[in-house]
Amino acid sequence: MSTTQDYIDKHKDTFIDELFELLRIPSVSTDSSKKDAIHQAADFLIGQLQNLELNTVKKFETPGNPIVYAEHSPHKDRPTVLIYGHYDVQPSDPDHLWDSPAFEPTVKDGLIYARGASDDKGQAFTHVKAVESYVKTGKELPVNVKFILEGEEEIGSPNLVPFLEEHKDLLSCDMVLISDTSMFGEDQPSITYGLRGLAYMEIEVVGPNRDLHSGVYGGAVENPANVLCEIIAKLKNENGVIQIPGFYDSVVELTEADHEAYAKLPFDEEKYKQSLDITALHGEKGYTTLERSTARPSLDVNGIWGGYQREGAKTVLPSKANAKVSMRLVPNQDPKEIAQLFKDHIESLAPDTAKVKVTEHHGGHPAVTDLDFYGLKAGAKAFEDVYETEVLFSREGGSIPIVADFKRVLGVESILMGFGLTSNAIHSPNENFSIKDFHRGIKTSARFLELLPEYAE
Ligand code: BES
Ligand code: MN
Ligand code: MN
Repeated sequence: MSTTQDYIDKHKDTFIDELFELLRIPSVSTDSSKKDAIHQAADFLIGQLQNLELNTVKKFETPGNPIVYAEHSPHKDRPTVLIYGHYDVQPSDPDHLWDSPAFEPTVKDGLIYARGASDDKGQAFTHVKAVESYVKTGKELPVNVKFILEGEEEIGSPNLVPFLEEHKDLLSCDMVLISDTSMFGEDQPSITYGLRGLAYMEIEVVGPNRDLHSGVYGGAVENPANVLCEIIAKLKNENGVIQIPGFYDSVVELTEADHEAYAKLPFDEEKYKQSLDITALHGEKGYTTLERSTARPSLDVNGIWGGYQREGAKTVLPSKANAKVSMRLVPNQDPKEIAQLFKDHIESLAPDTAKVKVTEHHGGHPAVTDLDFYGLKAGAKAFEDVYETEVLFSREGGSIPIVADFKRVLGVESILMGFGLTSNAIHSPNENFSIKDFHRGIKTSARFLELLPEYAE
């Protein structure tokens, strides 16, 4: 066994202790009261990277959350890998649904339970430890490495995009390496070659100037909650096709070859249903579940409210109703264009009995990686060496908007080498990450760096 892989085995427990330190920091980026924790998490990573005797370690302040940067470039003639990850996490609520506190990492049956365990602290940390395995065994890094760890991924990376534009030279590289996705299944590594984009919207329907008695006014005055439901019901037809005019105009259709590749993936629909406690699936006619959830656009209400929500029956006709709606996008849909089409369409559906207002939240472009890129091949081999099984190539339905920006601004492909599982419950209560995958992730990353030079030739 190589000394690096040996080092990783020997320090397994220390790595877990260190990850726990990071997981205890509640660095929730959507919560402005958590600014101290955000800085604490960034500083923890700075400390970790400083321990690696790299050429440069630097904390860049932004108008929002800091960007952690590091660089070590011992080679003139070898590739440079930019390792990206995020140290911010989603809020932990609803807290009462967690079996152990979200920010007190707890191990049960080989799984680390904590917010951020998988998304993305645990996964991002694998690369820090992989680099450490070279430095601390006195081995030169096989390639040049740059780190960029941000604190705003979960809020749409508002300050990272301008940072890329401003620091093109500093960030110049041959590829980006990201572990912030899932494997196809347990003990089944995969490289994700496509991610969906996002357009996130909010609708507000306003009716009378106050909540009204539904007996006194019901039937004579428009109900904003009813209007909102009618509008939403018109957004898809019975075949699951989104009804916004122009919505599909720029969608790149799946080819026969794409359908065949999808059909070959070992996807078990029964298990999928069982894992969600549902008896039937639903989606766009003419596509499989995997295609629907990763390569076709979607539209979903993420939250809806208005009127009386608490115990018992209060007879009230609400003066307002709201909904948050997300659309997942595929190549070549443009989030700004889609947001505008959505806005125009919703406004066209508004009755003259209520005011309808549409606002836009963050968005992001979809991304697909070139399957011929040598970096992907090195990634696949690294996975195979560590997991001792063949790697699959698949697309995923989630979004990492910065991937498209890496391509646009830096002109490079991203290798999405996720070590997570869909069962990791990211963004949900009881988020978890397998200790085994954390360990194998570190080994895969170290192996990838080692293999890359021969694939680059
Ligand atoms: N790591 C996820 C994205 C992800 C999850 C990709 C699973 C593939 C599989 C990331 O942290 C995330 O949650 N992204 C957000 C988008 C962002 C703009 C808020 C998402 O997908 O909702
Ligand atoms: Mn993530
Ligand atoms: Mn996330």
